[in-house]
Amino acid sequence: MSPVITPVISRQRIQEQVYDLATRINHDYDNQELVIIGVLKGVFIFLADLVRLLKMPVRIDFVHLSSYGQGSTSSGEVLVRKDVEISLKDQHVLIVEDIVDSGLTMAFLLQHLQTRRPESLKICCLIDKTERRTVSVPLDYVGFSIDQGFLVGYGLDYAEQHRHYPDICKIQL
Ligand code: IMP
Ligand code: MG
Repeated sequence: MSPVITPVISRQRIQEQVYDLATRINHDYDNQELVIIGVLKGVFIFLADLVRLLKMPVRIDFVHLSSYGQGSTSSGEVLVRKDVEISLKDQHVLIVEDIVDSGLTMAFLLQHLQTRRPESLKICCLIDKTERRTVSVPLDYVGFSIDQGFLVGYGLDYAEQHRHYPDICKIQL
């Protein structure tokens, strides 16, 4: 049977929220150089929309992490499939992530990037999924808070499918 997919955040609502996030980031960094680290793959659409609204000098790099977890949950053991290539020493660094769920992936990434001695390290996530948080992580910029459900679209996948949908949708598994 094919899964039931229901839109929960429209493309227009997403664009308004991305604009708000970019406005806050532009204000807070006040034209200081910024290194953006996108977390692949889910972030690719959000990051593309966000960075085009930033006004400071920006450099962009990516990490690709994978959790050893099965299905739709994360185990906390994280494998670095692609690491950052730009030097982060003494740089202002902003991690851009699609979803923070248990917090395990982000807690790992924070520790991993802190070893590069950045001047500052903050987090911007599109969706804060609060229900399953097991590790507390400081989220500096949050697009939407959602308490439950598995989401697809606007870059987010289930088993590599549905990333190309323009709206954020709930999928009934
Ligand atoms: P965490 O380690 O449990 O916080 O897992 C975060 C990662 O799991 C995110 O970077 C997403 O890639 C993925 N993830 C968590 N929830 C969802 C969801 O609802 N849809 C798509 N991916 C998700
Ligand atoms: Mg992810």
